[in-house]
Amino acid sequence: MTTKPIRFIRQGQPVTLHTVAPTRTLLEVLREDLHCTDTKEGCGEGDCGACTVVLGAVEDGALRYRAVNSCIRLAHSVEGMAVWTAQDLPAEDGTLHPAQEAMVQCHGSQCGFCTPGFVMSLFGMYQNHTAKGQPIDRALAQQDLSGNLCRCTGYRPILDAAQHMATLPPVKVDEAKLLQQLEQLAQPQQAAEADFAQAPSYLAPRTLAELCQARAAQPQAQIVAGCTDVGLWVTKMHMQFAQVLDVTQVQELRRISRTASHTQIGAAVPLQDAFTTLAAERPQLKAFAARFAGLPVRNSGTLGGNVANGSPIGDSMPLLIALGAQVRLASSRGERAIPLEDLYTGYRKNVMAPDEVLAFIDVPHVSAGELMRVYKISKRFDDDISAVCLALNLHVEDGVVASASVGAGGVAATPVRARQLEAALTGQPWTEASVRHAMQVLRAEFQPISDMRASAAYRTEVLGNLLWRFWLESQGQQAINLESISSLLLEAV
Ligand code: FES
Ligand code: FES
Repeated sequence: MTTKPIRFIRQGQPVTLHTVAPTRTLLEVLREDLHCTDTKEGCGEGDCGACTVVLGAVEDGALRYRAVNSCIRLAHSVEGMAVWTAQDLPAEDGTLHPAQEAMVQCHGSQCGFCTPGFVMSLFGMYQNHTAKGQPIDRALAQQDLSGNLCRCTGYRPILDAAQHMATLPPVKVDEAKLLQQLEQLAQPQQAAEADFAQAPSYLAPRTLAELCQARAAQPQAQIVAGCTDVGLWVTKMHMQFAQVLDVTQVQELRRISRTASHTQIGAAVPLQDAFTTLAAERPQLKAFAARFAGLPVRNSGTLGGNVANGSPIGDSMPLLIALGAQVRLASSRGERAIPLEDLYTGYRKNVMAPDEVLAFIDVPHVSAGELMRVYKISKRFDDDISAVCLALNLHVEDGVVASASVGAGGVAATPVRARQLEAALTGQPWTEASVRHAMQVLRAEFQPISDMRASAAYRTEVLGNLLWRFWLESQGQQAINLESISSLLLEAV
C-alpha cells in the first residue's frame, strides 16, 4: 500500500505533504505538522466550529469558498484545493483582514477560543458575499454562523461583525493567480489517479467508471464522501482504515441535472447545494434545510453520504421518502434504481452489493396540488440532531386524500415510510375527524426508543402533534413555530 502526497495552496504557496496516513484529519495536519495552532480543537466532532477553515476549489469553472470543520475532514480530501486558516488572513505587515478587524471593532471575542473558527466562517461569508458586493443581512449572518458556538461573548456582537465587514477597507484574494495554481495542481494529479493497480491508501477516482472499478477491486476500503460522520468514527471511536475510497472527486457524482420528471442529484453533491436546489422548487423546505446541521457540515457533507450512511436520525431521508425519491446504485455490472425506503434492511444496513456505490438520487418534481411539509423536532434550533423528523406529502382532490406519502425519522432503526398512516389517510375526506383518527394510527405505527434526545413517549406524542400541525397549516392556520420565534429574536438584537 502506498501513500500519495497531498498538495494544496496555502498563503499563496504550494504545500506538499508526504506519508500522511489516510485517516489523519486536516486539523491534525494543520496543528501538528504545519504548527498552525490558531486553528483550535473543541469538540472534535463537527459541532462547535472552533476548527473551521475555508477551502477554495474550482466548481463549475469558478472559485468557490467553503467553510468546513477541519476536525472531521480527512487531510487527503483537500488535495488540489486552497486552504485558509485564521493564521493566513492578516497582511504581511500585520494588518488584520476585515473578518478579524470587524470582530475587534464589534467586541466579538472574550476568552477567544471560538474566535478563529468564527473568523473563518466570516471569511467564507466575506468571499461569498461582501467581496461580490452582496449585503449580509441579519438572517444570513445567523445562518452562516450557525455551525460556530460561542460560550461567553454572546452572538449579538458577532452578528454585528458579520455586517460590519462591508464597511472596512476591502481585501482581495488574487483569484487569477490562485486559479492558475489550482490548475497546475490538477494536471499531474489526473495522470496519477488513473493507476489503481498501485492501490494507494487514499483513492480518489475522477470518473464513475473509475470509482466502480476501484470499488470492485477494493471492496474492503472505507467509502467516504464529506466525512461528516465517518470523521467521528476516527476522532471519537479511534477507528483506522487501511484504505479509504473518496467519492467526492467523481465528476458525474458532483452534478445536479434536471429531466422532465425529476431532479437528479449526484451522491457527492454537498448538502448545502442539494438543499438549495430542492428548496428552489419547494420553498417551504428552506427553513428545514437551514436547520440541517451548521453550514460547515452542509458544505462538507453530501446528500449521498447522508442517504448511504442510513442513520435513523438522518434528516434528508424522511424528506426524500415523502417526495418519492429513488436511489441509483452503480457498479461495473451496470446501474439499478430502487425506492429510497427499500435501500435499508436494518440499523445502518442496506441492500448494496460489495461492488456497488450509491451514485444518484432522483427526486420527482413538484406536482399539481401537492401539499408538502417537513418538520424537525430537536432541542436546539440550529446545528442539532433530530429527535423526530416527519415529512408529509399529500394530494387532496375534491376534499379527499387522493395520495399520501410520508417519511419519518427518529422512530425506528432506519428512516421509514409511514405506510399505516398513508393507508389510513388515502381515500378519506381531508377533515378534522380523519386527521384525529390518523394521529392515533401514526402514534401506534412505530415503537421509538428513549435516548438522550427524547423519551419514547415524547416521540410518540410529538409524531401525532406534527400531523395535527400539518392539518392546521393546510387550513391556513400558521402554528407558532421556531422559525417565527427565531426571526423575532433576531429583530430584537
Ligand atoms: Fe468542534 Fe471541529 S473541533 S467542530
Ligand atoms: Fe469564549 Fe467565544 S469568546 S467561547
